[in-house]
Amino acid sequence: MQDIVKEFPGVKALNGVQLSVRPGTVHTLMGENGAGKSTLVKCLIGMQPVTSGKIIYKGKEVAFKTTQEALNAGISMIHQELSPVLERSVSDNVFLGREPKKGIFLDYKKMHGDCLELFEKIGLKIDPSEKMKNLTVAKMQMVEIVKAISYDASIVIMDEPTSALTESEVEDLFKIIEELKSKGVAIIYISHKMEEIFRISDDISVFRDGEYVTTDRAENLTQDKVIEFMVGREITDMFPKKHCEIGEEVLKVENLCSGKAVQNVSFTLCKGEILGFAGLVGAGRTETMETIFGMRKKTGGKIYKDGKEIHIKSPEDAIRNRIGMLTEDRRGNGIVGILSIKMNTVLAHLKSYGFPINSRKMAEDTQAYVERLGTKTPSIETPIGNLSGGNQQKVLLARWLLTDPDILIVDEPTRGIDVGAKAEIHTILSELAGMGKSIIVVSSELPEVLGVADRIVVMREGVVTGCLGREEVSQELIMKYATLDKSKQKAVQ
Ligand SMILES: Nc1ncnc2c1ncn2[C@@H]1O[C@H](COP(=O)(O)OP(=O)(O)OP(=O)(O)O)[C@@H](O)[C@H]1O
Ligand SMILES: [Mg+2]
Repeated sequence: MQDIVKEFPGVKALNGVQLSVRPGTVHTLMGENGAGKSTLVKCLIGMQPVTSGKIIYKGKEVAFKTTQEALNAGISMIHQELSPVLERSVSDNVFLGREPKKGIFLDYKKMHGDCLELFEKIGLKIDPSEKMKNLTVAKMQMVEIVKAISYDASIVIMDEPTSALTESEVEDLFKIIEELKSKGVAIIYISHKMEEIFRISDDISVFRDGEYVTTDRAENLTQDKVIEFMVGREITDMFPKKHCEIGEEVLKVENLCSGKAVQNVSFTLCKGEILGFAGLVGAGRTETMETIFGMRKKTGGKIYKDGKEIHIKSPEDAIRNRIGMLTEDRRGNGIVGILSIKMNTVLAHLKSYGFPINSRKMAEDTQAYVERLGTKTPSIETPIGNLSGGNQQKVLLARWLLTDPDILIVDEPTRGIDVGAKAEIHTILSELAGMGKSIIVVSSELPEVLGVADRIVVMREGVVTGCLGREEVSQELIMKYATLDKSKQKAVQ
């Protein structure tokens, strides 16, 4: 890709960018949220036309008009924001648009079989006839990945493929990547996770604010160097945890149950405390939080706030009890794509703007959070769907900060967020705790939980397997509890 320029109304997303990808290698694109990484690959696959510039593929100039054209030519992509057809089956999703046919009818049997074969090849245990909506985000992601590689492509683009995956799934993905490489497939990889980037990359290109910064072999670069290229400054403290006083008990959860996913979960949370929730995907952390927040039916147990039992049947009840929750899956539960940043920010707080609505106040509040979180956007009236993934996450965080909750639950708060903004979000969480708020952080990134939390609850298969204090905790210990087998769980409880 040579001298690629891409303009959106009011935004120059790419300004003379280049990228050159070699067969049989992993080429990673790096840059802060909004740097233009996703836009660059969208231009490549014909999802968006370039404003100017040249794309040369296998020695010929190309300009794909649709993603289907790109696919036919051998370029497939796993998108940053999943877009599965939730009501259809897994195999329908994998073969969407190229369903095998028997005469004029779809050959469901073949589809099921082919799908199973693809899954088995990489050891994925998913029933192809399961409805897509019944899968976890992680499983959906794996399905997307299988779909992309099933096209026999020459280039596979992965835009933050591991953001929803567990460690073992990430390992599976890396094995797939190795296999693709050995077949001469080029992989364009986008991720904010430094460790994994340095594990798998051959080449790394860095972008900043739509500008091309540099490309080099991974072995010539270090994490610190890449960060400097990305942000133009050094970041010294990723987890600026301030010490703050921990006060009285604010939340007590007793034997909480929700079907099989949450079984007799008990824990307490104090004023000014940041409580981490660790575990592998499927451990029931998200489901526990959804039950507390009223998104999922509680089948047993009690919740107390400030010593009084509270009854939460819906998110509205939770908000009324001053509990806020930033959900894990921003596409499904969070953003309203066609609405503006302003409306998305004030959404959980609408009632406070009176009637008729005080839209000036709305704008002021939104603007304040755009500045505080460093959200990159041309204006607060921009539809949130136009923002880069990481910037959408910041808008959602702003939504919950604005409701000024006593208890803020954040589920994977920094997923898809660049290193600079990550440190900002950790600072904000720590500041909130300092102001006497209580915070629950669910995160699959162990360094994150270790960095921000005062205590860490570890779950496995719907059960709490351990609760660790800041002094005693380590990655090894968390992993031990996260993988503890059932027979020993009783002893810990
Ligand atoms: N459809 C669109 N309309 C208007 N502006 C857009 C559109 N898509 C992207 N942009 C803008 O282009 C810029 C680059 O966005 P892009 O999504 O490529 O960033 P990114 O590097 O992928 O960031 P992230 O790490 O957050 O995913 C951003 O300023 C974004 O707001
Ligand atoms: Mg992106």
